[in-house]
Amino acid sequence: MDQGKQITLPLLMSVGTAVIGSLQFGYNTGVINAPQEVIENFINQTWYHRYNEPIPKSSLTAVWSIAVSVFSVGGIFGSFSVGLFVNRLGRRNSMLMANILAFISAVLMGFSKMAKSWEMLIVGRFVVGLYCGLSTGFVPMYVGEISPTALRGALGTLHQLGIVIGILIAQIFGLEVIMGNENLWPLLLAFLFIPAVIQCVLLPLCPESPRFLLINKNEENKAKCVLKKLRGTTDVSADMQEMKEESRQMMREKKVTILELFRSPLYRQPLLIAVMLQLSQQLSGINAIFYYSTSIFAKAGVEQPVYATIGAGVVNTAFTVVSLFVVERAGRRSLHLLGLLGMAGSAILMTIAMALLEQLKWMSYVSIVAIFAFVAFFEIGPGPIPWFIVAELFSQGPRPSAIAVAGFSNWTANFIVGMGFQYGASACGPYVFVIFTVLLVIFFIFTYFKVPETKGRTFDDIAAGFRQTAAMAEKHTPEELNSLGADSQL
Ligand code: GLC
Repeated sequence: MDQGKQITLPLLMSVGTAVIGSLQFGYNTGVINAPQEVIENFINQTWYHRYNEPIPKSSLTAVWSIAVSVFSVGGIFGSFSVGLFVNRLGRRNSMLMANILAFISAVLMGFSKMAKSWEMLIVGRFVVGLYCGLSTGFVPMYVGEISPTALRGALGTLHQLGIVIGILIAQIFGLEVIMGNENLWPLLLAFLFIPAVIQCVLLPLCPESPRFLLINKNEENKAKCVLKKLRGTTDVSADMQEMKEESRQMMREKKVTILELFRSPLYRQPLLIAVMLQLSQQLSGINAIFYYSTSIFAKAGVEQPVYATIGAGVVNTAFTVVSLFVVERAGRRSLHLLGLLGMAGSAILMTIAMALLEQLKWMSYVSIVAIFAFVAFFEIGPGPIPWFIVAELFSQGPRPSAIAVAGFSNWTANFIVGMGFQYGASACGPYVFVIFTVLLVIFFIFTYFKVPETKGRTFDDIAAGFRQTAAMAEKHTPEELNSLGADSQL
């Protein structure tokens, strides 16, 4: 087998352990959907217990919406704080430490019923949001840094696979017959305790990122040792060579803060691309489906909407696997373009189906097909690619800050769609997905003109490409710009 494509056991185990964090993100995205009614009953009962009267409808809606969306608020803060940890503690220990938040959240949510406190539920959702925000930075960074160049896309897609499996597990566990009922919902929410324990046991057995060891810590021997284990070979000179080259570049770049990232012309292009790709993922409208699919299916006249929701989860998982196998062959750019275009087409089909539902009953089947196609195209490109491409677009110096900014954009857009969709749906009726169609077309045009292919290129080569573009724009040589870039003089 080609040395650069070797999947070794230590590599697989490290990636597998890291993506438990992705699974937690998916699980907590999906878990609150199905048991809405039983948890609302609990809120009502606690209210009654305290004030001797049932909760007013508007207060119930407010408490519920806060419990749902405070998760993304936690995510916004968490993702933005990624840079505070990764360079001090290292990538692996940051992931390990973050589990404290998972435990705290599990306890808060798990005991909220016993303590008769919906406040504990809300705080618990915020804390698990913090954890998930951190994970969406830590995991793609660690996976990108330990993967061989030729497998970076495929292994990077495992982050998304973890997310979608998490969503699917949550949808299934949330069924009334399993845990989505009056007695077991606290367990359903506290379930995240178990993956957290597993990750805490496994992480100490995984190596630290060799890039972190060499470039940030200057521990060459340790880095070499880890690389040999990950690559399953004693000759790691090519990897070491590439990392040293990146390290030499970084000596000139120094560590890059978020502020410098915005100021330096060197990073303008990759930063714009990273942020736009995150926005294209969230503003595609995917979470309108994952937060509200049950009510969308119900409106579309589907008889068993909960099962249609699980169907969407299955399609979602299946197509992430498809992406996993084609991403190193077809490339990031083309898959992202194909995904956006397919989503736009499916959104149009969905709109037609919803609009004609009154006249033609069979349109409810068309709407199921359209929603499944929408989800499938999402996972071909816009789902997995934005998460791992940020680590590819930046070298070691600016990478943590860039991942923080990208994560922040992603979570903020996620929050906006989560909060805004219901208002949009009541204002536009069956035409609400037209908004997403327009956005999808805009993101398609942007990707077509601005996003370069990163498949098969080393981190250093990708960064060199951007230096060249920036130099041309600023009329400096790449070398001049490099030294100026770090001090943000331009
Ligand atoms: C992506 C998104 C996430 C969404 C999921 C659906 O990971 O970041 O918000 O819920 O895909 O599969």
